[in-house]
Amino acid sequence: MKAVVLVGGVGTRLRPITETIPKPLVWLMDRPSLDHVLDHLSSHGVHEVVLSSSYLESTFHAFIEARHGDPRITWITETEPLGTGGAIVSALDRLGDEPFLALNGDILTDLDLTAMIALHRERHAAATIALHHVEDARPFGLVPTDAEGRVLEFREKPTERVPGDVNAGTYVLEPAVLRSWPSGTNLSIEREIFPALIAAGHPVHGFLSDAYWLDLGTPRQYLQAHFDLLDGRVGGASYPAPFVADGARVHLRAHLGRWVVVGRGAEVGPDAEIDDSVLHPNAVVEAGARIVGSILGPRARVGAGATVRDCALAEAASVEPGATLQGERVSAGRRVGGSSKDPARPM
Ligand code: GTP
Repeated sequence: MKAVVLVGGVGTRLRPITETIPKPLVWLMDRPSLDHVLDHLSSHGVHEVVLSSSYLESTFHAFIEARHGDPRITWITETEPLGTGGAIVSALDRLGDEPFLALNGDILTDLDLTAMIALHRERHAAATIALHHVEDARPFGLVPTDAEGRVLEFREKPTERVPGDVNAGTYVLEPAVLRSWPSGTNLSIEREIFPALIAAGHPVHGFLSDAYWLDLGTPRQYLQAHFDLLDGRVGGASYPAPFVADGARVHLRAHLGRWVVVGRGAEVGPDAEIDDSVLHPNAVVEAGARIVGSILGPRARVGAGATVRDCALAEAASVEPGATLQGERVSAGRRVGGSSKDPARPM
């Protein structure tokens, strides 16, 4: 089985973390989140993957060079962003004639892909869409199905809070039904391709499961994914809580709460206190600083005695000693707090 992993988004909602790192390469626990996706695919028998993007392309090349083993990766450069559908259609000539998987590269899930592929074959579906039940469908849009599980339509985001099944961003697709769309054009799989397949009478099925599922799209959701992994709520993953990566240095007098991740090469000084937060590789928290509900990007630094609450600091951003920051997003390489004239932006 082959797969296309969609990695070409610009990650607006996760800014400023995604200013220098595309969302699929932002670290999740001990490795880039794309590694988790590729390992999950490999565990379900996927041995070849196509990735494409036009955003921060060189960072993907470094990732692909560093990654070894299954699955084998083919890279396609998008000269313009092709959208979720365009990226899939434009990869068709690398995918052969068998059904393949396509998935969003920014989702943490333990979905049973083997069972999903089996259902797709059993129903002779043109497309099978993983569905996830939510109590509030407002951020997503609904995907209603009939009694046999056949998808009826893609509904716009509801304005009222209603429960329902939503698109979980993982698909099994038949290449033959996608060949009528032109390669190299921008298309949305959700707004253009699926509605057209349904309207043309192709069998599009839903695969509803109670698998763990979380879109890593916002700082809050990104932190939640870590808390759930630390809590053992994601199948196939197990981490001690708090999680301190190899090569991180945490002073004996520092306090780490249970929902904390300290990345490779990160440093936490004496009397620093950290709760509900994630430190990326080589981030530094100096003596006596207090960090709560925050993301510290790679090489970000919080000065001695500073307080950082509900903030996201991009790569190499820094907070001056003694400063207090609440609900701010600090761009890559910026220095804020104290006498700085370089203001942060609200979260
Ligand atoms: P936001 O800007 O915060 O909405 O994030 P995003 O840019 O990642 O967009 P969204 O979450 O809607 O994208 C869903 C998935 O499709 C993600 O895995 C993206 O990486 C991917 N994606 C979005 N646009 C493109 C594109 O133009 N090309 C490719 N290859 N993938 C895309």
